[in-house]
Amino acid sequence: YWLVPSFSSTSSLPYDDEQEGLEDQLTIRFSHVVAEHTPKGLAAQKFASLVAEKSNGKIKVEIYANATLFTDEEEVNALKQGKVEMIAPAYSKLTSLIPEWQVLDLPFALPNDQAVEEALQGQIGQILFSKLQSFHIKGLTFWENGFKQVTNSVRPLIHPTDFHGLRFRTMPSEVIQEQFRLLGAIPKVTPFHDTFRELYYKQVDGQENTISNIYSKKFYEVQPYMTISNHGYLGYVVLMNETFWERLTPSQQQIIVEALDETTTWMKTHAKIINEKQLHEIVQTKRVNIHELTDEQKREWLSHLYPLYERVRHQVGEQLINEVLRIQQ
Ligand code: LMR
Repeated sequence: YWLVPSFSSTSSLPYDDEQEGLEDQLTIRFSHVVAEHTPKGLAAQKFASLVAEKSNGKIKVEIYANATLFTDEEEVNALKQGKVEMIAPAYSKLTSLIPEWQVLDLPFALPNDQAVEEALQGQIGQILFSKLQSFHIKGLTFWENGFKQVTNSVRPLIHPTDFHGLRFRTMPSEVIQEQFRLLGAIPKVTPFHDTFRELYYKQVDGQENTISNIYSKKFYEVQPYMTISNHGYLGYVVLMNETFWERLTPSQQQIIVEALDETTTWMKTHAKIINEKQLHEIVQTKRVNIHELTDEQKREWLSHLYPLYERVRHQVGEQLINEVLRIQQ
């Protein structure tokens, strides 16, 4: 594939062989699917302003939120083809391309913040990043959102039997679909931007997501039951088109790395604060019946879901499965 980055009018050719061409004005298109006031939406804006500041306005990050440029079904291919320079998909969106990424979708794989940190900053993160190389995708950093909760419009979900026969929207990840099947429910893969509509028209009964996504896309307005289950972690990997990355000068690369480092650090505290604040907002509306799973109920869910670990061992690989099991202990 051939990449044509968008340059401002100060550069006469879209591609200038000489480094000076790249030194001029540079635009990085950054596409994502969530609302602006979410951890990812705010991080993208912070990153853009840091890049502008550090480059004295020479590098512009143009953000396309709410799937206005590409949907989550399209964005990975668009990145590979150079139709966009940066994306930050949820891990689950990479699993059809790179099955090893399914390890992060295993139910209760990362039970708390410490486990998330240990997995992503340790061996699991390293292995998953290395898998991106063969697809010519440059992995830059992990960004946080939070743990997933389950919502639905039919009944409280407390025991696995409560899932029976209900239809759930899922992200395009086999492990997530299988998780719902093991609970007796029916999964349906739907792009994020169609989820509200499907919930509203009752084409599905429920979905799983972080509080910030449930809040910002108003899922809670049509989903009167929510279980605080923390059964899965939804985080992002910030990716860049590899050819674009390689054509940047070392100083441009350094600006991007520094701006991302600062944003990632900011997100480590703020993703949590945003999710907590928005949970409070949802509680205040009094529209949602909220149940928090007890440890015993979690064990009950897990007893149904554990077979998934063995089922994906082959696709994900011994090393990743063993590492995630080690972290859980
Ligand atoms: C979803 O599809 O539910 C999420 O991945 C959306 C997002 O990017 O947070």
